Amino acid sequence: MNIAVIGTGYVGLVTGVCLSELGNSVTCIDIDADKISMLEKGQSPIYESGLEDLLQNNIGRGNLNFTTDYEKGLYDKQLIYIAVGTPQGEDGSADLTYINKACESLARNLKQDAIIVTKSTVPVGTNEYIMKKIQSSLPQDITIKIASNPEFLRQGSAVHDTFHGDRIVIGSDDEEALETLERINADFNLPIVKTDLRSAEMIKYASNAFLATKLSFINEMANLCERLGANVDSVSSGMGMDKRIGSSFLNAGIGYGGSCFPKDTRAIISAGKDADYHMSLLESAVDVNERQKVIIVDKVMERFSNISGKKVAVLGLAFKPGTDDMREAPSIYVTEKLLAEGAVVHAYDPVAADNAQKILPGQIRYASSVEEAIDGADMALILTEWNEIKEFPWESYKEHMNNAVLFDGRNCFRLDNIAGSGVEYHSIGRPA
Ligand code: UGA
Repeated sequence: MNIAVIGTGYVGLVTGVCLSELGNSVTCIDIDADKISMLEKGQSPIYESGLEDLLQNNIGRGNLNFTTDYEKGLYDKQLIYIAVGTPQGEDGSADLTYINKACESLARNLKQDAIIVTKSTVPVGTNEYIMKKIQSSLPQDITIKIASNPEFLRQGSAVHDTFHGDRIVIGSDDEEALETLERINADFNLPIVKTDLRSAEMIKYASNAFLATKLSFINEMANLCERLGANVDSVSSGMGMDKRIGSSFLNAGIGYGGSCFPKDTRAIISAGKDADYHMSLLESAVDVNERQKVIIVDKVMERFSNISGKKVAVLGLAFKPGTDDMREAPSIYVTEKLLAEGAVVHAYDPVAADNAQKILPGQIRYASSVEEAIDGADMALILTEWNEIKEFPWESYKEHMNNAVLFDGRNCFRLDNIAGSGVEYHSIGRPA
């Protein structure tokens, strides 16, 4: 099939590349000329495992090309995916600026009938809005149909998730659009959920909201475990063996961040408000996460009382390992609080340091290795569970630090491995 994908962010690019891998002829459109010229040369502007190889192979096979020109990009395309960003607006709702711009450009340049497929995470009802907006600006002899095909890709493993996800959701109120999308997606060989437009939009928000709530739930249990002398690791494994609960997403820590859970939970709360319904469970999940992000500093203050002038090593800055993304990373709030208490912060992250420097307070000093960050430090805080940090030897903490006190915000180590190491170890939801 001839396919266009609008937007070459991590969702659009991965979608375009993976559809071309299935043998479709795909053109990716983006207004960012620098990005398009990189992509034309087979270079990926984002780091996604396996993406660049597929990108180069499919450019080589002639299945994949890139353009900034809508007219050229939309020429002869039967399916047009919209995969532009829907960032958080000032009031917490989803900001549809890029969706509106994509619709306007699409309407101006579309010359044939097509099915428009929304990949972007959009509030319930947006697909109907998109349909009306585009159709009203098109010449009368061109007809479009609309479908929703939300993504469930994790940053860092988006290619793997595209080919090995748990399900594909397609929603449309038009039978023919549903059938076409089912045919295209059949090649992924994954279970397909077919539904109406609004339910498909809702599945995406409900899934992210549920996962965020699951995390806040286990983090609350962790906080209570600490107070009652239980160990959240055992609690998670004991709970997770119940198939109705499931063992994934039960790792307690300093909360979720990233470009998805924080924005999507707030957007659905905001949608509830607009519909005159108070999403109280989700509001609590968000509140718990806000508190959880800085709980590690409370632990520091409990242990030290005063950290003014103390050297604090912060290990890991990205919102999760495998990415340089700093959006809503707990490190933003943790470092702010440490500096407000007068600490001297030395930070290390294997890949996110450049992005971190653009958003973290200027007083932070950056180290180029774990050793350099902890050298002479009075304490170290682990905020992202990079392998390099998990594999760093215990003896080296003792060797380099002024005071080998480690606060682990990601429960990287088993407690029985630490016993006898000489490192004073504090973690989340487990005995000190
Ligand atoms: C998330 C969802 O997992 C994807 O299914 C979804 O498609 C995507 O959002 C999106 O809406 O586009 P992502 O934000 O890449 O993907 O990150 P996750 O790997 O899900 O992690 C989210 C956060 O939860 C991270 O901060 C991570 O550290 C935290 N987390 C995750 C925990 O604290 N504990 C866990 O057990 C799992």
